[in-house]
Amino acid sequence: MVKVMAVIAVYSSKGGVGKTTIATNLGWCSAQLAARRTLLWDLDPADGAGFMFALEAQRKRQARSLFAGDIPAATLIQPSSYAGLDLLPADSSLRELDSMLLRMGQRHRIAMLSKQLARSYDRLILDCPLVLNELSAQVMRAATLVIVPLPPSPLSARALDHVVEEIRRHTTRPPPILPVYSMVDRRRSLHLEALAANPAWPAIPMVSSLEQCAVQRRPIGTFAPRTPAALAFGRLWEGIERKLAQITATPAPG
Ligand SMILES: Nc1ncnc2c1ncn2[C@@H]1O[C@H](COP(=O)(O)OP(=O)(O)OP(=O)(O)O)[C@@H](O)[C@H]1O
Ligand SMILES: [Mg+2]
Repeated sequence: MVKVMAVIAVYSSKGGVGKTTIATNLGWCSAQLAARRTLLWDLDPADGAGFMFALEAQRKRQARSLFAGDIPAATLIQPSSYAGLDLLPADSSLRELDSMLLRMGQRHRIAMLSKQLARSYDRLILDCPLVLNELSAQVMRAATLVIVPLPPSPLSARALDHVVEEIRRHTTRPPPILPVYSMVDRRRSLHLEALAANPAWPAIPMVSSLEQCAVQRRPIGTFAPRTPAALAFGRLWEGIERKLAQITATPAPG
């Protein structure tokens, strides 16, 4: 079987819905459970992914220079403490990334960079900022699959429609979307209703061990591997791999 690189964007137009928690834990699952050479690429100037993996904060504000082509990715990429998982961390210079991409006028800049990174990685996982703009449009053009974290509420379907609409507006060939319920509390009837409305959507439970990821600065699989939340991430990753296999089953031209 030919190995094909995949770009997995974790994206929502809403803040605080679990994007960074999902992106970082999926990065670990990809590298450690599936033995994929994985790069977690943080596009959010808040640098949540770097924090979650206990990387030193970047002193030089260089992240933006990668997009301008001024420095190679290798200058910025850092190994994590886990085999197979590297990070391309963010810093505050990414606050100006959106306007810079617009000025550059290269609509596929992130897709081009992803192709270059594909020489060294099987899976790129993008932790995206929440704004809908040139940056998110470029992410959608680069993505093989878009994960949309949704807190379970009857409003989730509407939030998802919103993302779908935005993606359609920005791409000629919209990438497939996988909605994921991100903070599920099965004691709440509203959450159960939301789950029943979309039984095929994967679900990650709302548990303190996932909050602990940001305290311990480690993915859940490293400190609570047999818990329902860690197992839910393992299943989510398997589902993603199955989806990627379907998507990439169509042979590329040439
Ligand atoms: N399943 C969960 N159970 C418990 N807490 C969670 C869960 N998912 C996320 N959290 C917590 O919710 C908060 C927001 O999560 P996170 O930072 O992953 O969201 P985000 O969408 O990346 O936010 P932002 O838009 O600010 O980047 C964090 O404190 C995180 O620890
Ligand atoms: Mg985040």
